[in-house]
Amino acid sequence: MDRLAITGGFRLEGQIPISGAKNAALPLMCASLLTKNKLTLSNLPHLADIKTLQMLLEGHGVKSTILQDGEKPGEGQVISFETPDITNTVAPYDIVRKMRASILVLGPLLAREGEATVSLPGGCAIGNRPIDLHLKGFEAMGAKIELEEGYVRASAPNGRLTGGKVHFPTVSVGATENILMAATLASGMTTIENAAREPEISDLAHCLNAMGAEITGIGTRTLEVKGKETLHGAEYAVMPDRIEAGSYAIAAAMTRGEIELIGDNLLDVMTGTVGVLKEAGVDFKETDNGVIVTLGSEKIKGVDVTTQPYPGFPTDMQAQLMAMMTQCDSASVINESIFENRFMHVPELCRMGADITMHGSTAIVRGVDQLLGAPVMATDLRASMSLVLAGLVADRQTFVNRIYHLDRGYERLVEKLSAVGAKITRDANLGI
Ligand code: UD1
Repeated sequence: MDRLAITGGFRLEGQIPISGAKNAALPLMCASLLTKNKLTLSNLPHLADIKTLQMLLEGHGVKSTILQDGEKPGEGQVISFETPDITNTVAPYDIVRKMRASILVLGPLLAREGEATVSLPGGCAIGNRPIDLHLKGFEAMGAKIELEEGYVRASAPNGRLTGGKVHFPTVSVGATENILMAATLASGMTTIENAAREPEISDLAHCLNAMGAEITGIGTRTLEVKGKETLHGAEYAVMPDRIEAGSYAIAAAMTRGEIELIGDNLLDVMTGTVGVLKEAGVDFKETDNGVIVTLGSEKIKGVDVTTQPYPGFPTDMQAQLMAMMTQCDSASVINESIFENRFMHVPELCRMGADITMHGSTAIVRGVDQLLGAPVMATDLRASMSLVLAGLVADRQTFVNRIYHLDRGYERLVEKLSAVGAKITRDANLGI
């Protein structure tokens, strides 16, 4: 397996183009199942998860054509997705187990074909992650749900879902997206209450409207969807990745550097992250092309944070913030309220000399003078990034193993960090 070798201690300076958001791209690709016509998506990042979903979609009859490979840094891919007929309504275990977001084919398949069978995604490194909210939502739209041999079989009586009221007791990004997509082709009105408000959901809703859907309340807790007989094709550009942007903002602050993040409306979509980073002493200055990030204070200030659904501080930034807080002037309290087991980076950061104690879902991070490079192991996508960030300021070399997690979610990580002065290489087959 490959590993990353990072020599810490270099100040980062320059520009980093922010890629299209993985978490927006995946549901947008699934939305292509809702129409016979072509959905052309631009600004798609080159990521393992995009390829995995492409493969899954092809199994359902989607013809995807790469119109622009986006090989230059800062350029995304342009891919068209066309599904004249759904050739198969089964999403197999082999692919679904690799990527939980595969569950997002369930809504579109069920809505267009009146039936779908999708493997249960199973557990995952950051917690149980059930799909009960998705399933209850489909039931509220008249679907019959059966669980059999590790698969969810969903069917709509008379072949079409009916609009209804879907109230989520807990905010769920994936469930909101799945129900939203399904509702666009259901008969009648669907109201989604306590919907997630993440910008990726608004991105999906705007794309669906461009495809002929009628969704109102975008960006609020209540989405209203007037179902249509059919949707049509569209062209749509994926929004920038606010988690990638936040991760590089932290890299700028930790290395006392100055990085211009290149992308549209970054500060708007990064609300929760920017608020907390400002408290920690980070400065953001908007430019014509994006935003310049620097550390405005002498030292990073300790902050007390609880992860929350948007617009709160995102759970997907928790591990990276923790790496940053290992360098704070005092102590920081980080509470994880979304996923029950999202602290697997803690023992690895401690191996690098961090001072972190855990109390249930709360971590107390005391700032240390210097992290020390060490061989470490990535356990999930964002945990992996926290180890990279720690490596950027650690004394001597850090080797990050199992970097296939990073390949799932950070486009051209080595290239982007090297361009701003980081000493980072990818060593083929040297990892464990
Ligand atoms: C999405 C993001 C992920 C992010 C998460 C929270 C994608 C591809 N992934 O994941 O990066 O960390 O949002 O912002 O966009 N839950 C249930 N039952 C359900 C569904 C969820 O109990 O049916 C719980 C989960 O276990 C979790 C919470 O709800 O505790 C939020 O999960 P959810 O928002 O659904 O996360 P994902 O959509 O899986």
